[in-house]
Amino acid sequence: MITLSTPADNTSMLTPQGEFKLERVPPNPQLQAWDAADQYLLKQIDELQALTQQSRLLLVNDNFGALSVALADYHPVMVNDSFLSQLALSSNLQLNGYESDLVTFNNSLQLPSVKFDIILIKIPKSQALLKHQLYSLRELIGSETRIIAAGMSRSIHSSTLKLFESILGPTTTSLAWKKSRLIYVARDQSMNQGQSPYPDYFTVETDREFSLCNHANLFSREKLDNGSRLVIEYMPVSEHYQRIIDLGCGNGILGLIAASVNPKAELLFVDESYMAVESARINFEAAFGQERVAEFTVTNCLQGIANESVDLVLNNPPFHQQTSVGDTLAWEMFIDSRKGLKSGGELWVVGNRHLAYHAKLKKIFGNCQQVASNGKFVLLKSIKQ
Ligand SMILES: C[S@@+](CC[C@H](N)C(=O)[O-])C[C@H]1O[C@@H](n2cnc3c(N)ncnc32)[C@H](O)[C@@H]1O
Repeated sequence: MITLSTPADNTSMLTPQGEFKLERVPPNPQLQAWDAADQYLLKQIDELQALTQQSRLLLVNDNFGALSVALADYHPVMVNDSFLSQLALSSNLQLNGYESDLVTFNNSLQLPSVKFDIILIKIPKSQALLKHQLYSLRELIGSETRIIAAGMSRSIHSSTLKLFESILGPTTTSLAWKKSRLIYVARDQSMNQGQSPYPDYFTVETDREFSLCNHANLFSREKLDNGSRLVIEYMPVSEHYQRIIDLGCGNGILGLIAASVNPKAELLFVDESYMAVESARINFEAAFGQERVAEFTVTNCLQGIANESVDLVLNNPPFHQQTSVGDTLAWEMFIDSRKGLKSGGELWVVGNRHLAYHAKLKKIFGNCQQVASNGKFVLLKSIKQ
């Protein structure tokens, strides 16, 4: 019997299936690439002895591939909205000597079309995403499918359990283990009423009206964020902008307005969320039809974008990755923006004043000017020299 004790370092995950090396993407030596809920789920799967080589296994929201790597011998399918999770899956498989094709990756908008024997779900940060996923998973659940979800106790509320109960069927929870919990769901096939309310819409009015489609996992899905509002108010306009990037585009609101006030510029929308990029594409097409060409790319920051090819980057950076708050992603975005900009190109960043992006931009670009502020948010501009 394996006892799950404290691992030797924070890249070794000890489970009944074995000990695995796991790293986060982007790397962060201070933070683990798994949590106790992953280990609880793996312990439970081992105790149930429910997996065989014939089992069809689906893993939903496996953040850095901890479940996929530990269960790689069962050839699981992983469904995730995050490109960073996709990158972590492939690098962690490699780190443990596995071929990358042992696990099949499906993004959140392209679910597989078979029934699964076992579905393991990590509770995502966004309740809207969970709701959407539970509705979508109905198609993949057969009469014998075993469904177990897991999360840290702090992210499992009575409303979380009600979601499972109202969409899938009777739901019970385990005792807590290392501040994590399991959720057991018995699918009631007679409960088929209702469907996902996502994507949903709201409207933003500037000198023209934009109707914004928002898939379930979108930032500020119900209304315009106050930081984005500040960028819109001071949106830069120049004849010299040939290529503009909306970096971390979400529903694409910054790029849409930039396209509207810079009618000759080419737009590129980038996000690590598949749902975000698809929402931006829908919104751009709704606003400009075929009359404007734009690119829509799922990537990590500006990976894959040519150096010195951009005149303007607009950026409202993320201040967390899943449940961990931090500025690692903002740093990467600023560094990549400097590489992607032409000489004389501009990076415009909006953020909460207390995040002190000013100091970071000054370090990376050697200059940073405050364009505007509205109390809580500041709009900053750095020029590549
Ligand atoms: C604060 S939101 C801003 C969304 C939108 N631009 C707005 O102003 O409403 C930050 C966005 O960055 C995206 N993001 C997070 N990490 C990223 C990464 N590594 N590469 C690209 N986009 C990322 C998130 O998915 C999210 O859509």
